[in-house]
Amino acid sequence: MILIVGGAGYIGSHVNKYLSNKGYETIVFDNLSKGHKELVKWGKFVEGDLGNLEEVRKVFRENKIEAVMNFAAFIEVGESVIDPEKYYYNNVVNTLNLLKVMKENSVDKIIFSSTAATFGNPQYVPIDEKHPQFPINPYGMSKLMIENIFKDYEMAYGLKYVVFRYFNACGADVGAEIGEWHEPESHLIPLVFQAALGIREDIKIFGTDYETPDGTCIRDYVHVTDLAQVHWLGLERLLNGDCSGFFNLGNGKGFSVREVIESVKRVTGKDFKVTEVERREGDAAVLIAGSERARNVLEWKPEFTDLDEIVRTAWEWEKRK
Ligand code: UFG
Repeated sequence: MILIVGGAGYIGSHVNKYLSNKGYETIVFDNLSKGHKELVKWGKFVEGDLGNLEEVRKVFRENKIEAVMNFAAFIEVGESVIDPEKYYYNNVVNTLNLLKVMKENSVDKIIFSSTAATFGNPQYVPIDEKHPQFPINPYGMSKLMIENIFKDYEMAYGLKYVVFRYFNACGADVGAEIGEWHEPESHLIPLVFQAALGIREDIKIFGTDYETPDGTCIRDYVHVTDLAQVHWLGLERLLNGDCSGFFNLGNGKGFSVREVIESVKRVTGKDFKVTEVERREGDAAVLIAGSERARNVLEWKPEFTDLDEIVRTAWEWEKRK
């Protein structure tokens, strides 16, 4: 049985589907503070909170858990600056609780969601695993703390881990059974859809004076099903007894904010208002992942590289949501 903490969220729900299709028995543990019960369509579901040790212990007592994945975290960079306590408790302390109960039950394998935000402002791109890590906000710092804690727990307790640092997760399950669903929405592609659907009056471009070809920020948009695939590969590696590792996950290809907006216009066939505003604080001009390690070591083969194709999967979900 694979325990998927945060499996009612965006990436966790896609991993749950992928693992279930591969024949794994899964159990989703989620407090539904951000996740949606409707996204848990496979395996068992337990509503519970990592902040409550007894609830976590109960899941381990009642199920034979071989490995754990932890997707449960707050992910808003801006909010983390305003309220760091919220981030350090949820992302750090609660993960420590999970590790504690794993240790009590001699479960020693974990896959953990980290982020490009652990790197801070890039010193070079593509950002590979050797890039220095100097996060510039509490969100990135909270994830880096856990990365470092894993190294100590490995030395002291024999913990085995795979850490995945996502760049910009996007898209939705082909078939649109599940997809991206944040409330309130803060990510670019779903926000552009809201403009296309008339739910918001325009899409604002945060900054047009960056040192990029069209002046807008460039990001590495990696499809959520490709992320699900690599979680499966990482899990198999851990279950085979291979050693721990850190992996940056992206397409290796960057797209600007303007390119994303144009893609949404093509895919939806809708036109809408685009407003150019000031830069958003804390945005790096270019974030692109160097993912050679995941491709070579885990034999990860991302299937989605075309931006329109990625946006099309997200649009199918958005229409059905
Ligand atoms: N953007 C706009 N207008 C909007 C929303 C976003 O122009 O209305 C721009 C942003 O400025 C950025 C790009 O679109 O240049 C992508 O923005 P997102 O908010 O969708 O994603 P981020 O790159 O800011 O965030 C992602 C992850 C975070 C992670 C961060 C840093 O979603 O969890 O990368 O690694 F922390």
